[in-house]
Amino acid sequence: MQQIALAVIGGTGVYNLAKLDDVQTHEVDTRFGKPSGPVRVGTLLGHRVAFLARHGEGHSLPPHKINYRANLAALQQIGAQRVLALNTVGGIGDDFGPRVLACPDQVIDYTWGRISTICEEEGTDVVHVDFGHPYTPMLRSKILAAAKVTGVKVHDGGCYGATQGPRLETIAEIARMRRDGCDLVGMTGMPEAALARELGLDYACLAIVANWAAGCGDGEEITMAEVLANVQAASNGLPELVGELARG
Ligand code: HPA
Repeated sequence: MQQIALAVIGGTGVYNLAKLDDVQTHEVDTRFGKPSGPVRVGTLLGHRVAFLARHGEGHSLPPHKINYRANLAALQQIGAQRVLALNTVGGIGDDFGPRVLACPDQVIDYTWGRISTICEEEGTDVVHVDFGHPYTPMLRSKILAAAKVTGVKVHDGGCYGATQGPRLETIAEIARMRRDGCDLVGMTGMPEAALARELGLDYACLAIVANWAAGCGDGEEITMAEVLANVQAASNGLPELVGELARG
């Protein structure tokens, strides 16, 4: 299979990649089962890029039902080594208001009951991967460099708190997460990041802040319409940023 410069996993509100041309569709099967949908491989500003919609292209999979293992294995199978995870999130920290793009450097995992290792099957050797830096530092640096070149504003750093969903959080839950040191809250950051590490993939997150988390900001009710509108507005510069990242 031909080398892929970069694979992108799209989150809520990101079901395709604008400017991805000459797209070929791959229905991939993996040892972990089927991914959330077809992998679309095309050319983005001259570079081979793969795209997969994490929740399915019609957003039919809730966060706890996503086959994170199959998604990552499918991207690896079609020739990707580097994965850019786009995650739609709520903002907790003051610097992380709606429409901010952020490249977090830490994770706290509050999810439960998800298959969070590739060493699950009988007969596989258990591996305890280092996860002190949950996102590949070199890929993070490249995201930040690509942001600079393309003039897309990206916040460097932050702690992503991964919650179970699919419901949003209570005000007390978010207050606890703030005390824990979380800046962002989303439902899909884990176990994806840990599985990527186990699979030996380079993996980093670009979080798209869609709303203030419960009890933050103006404290207004969070609506899906607000989430989708903010994701769309914040995604304007993404094709250029992704193209530049795929280049280097
Ligand atoms: N909480 C969890 N996940 C999210 C949120 C949120 O407020 N917004 C978008 N994804």
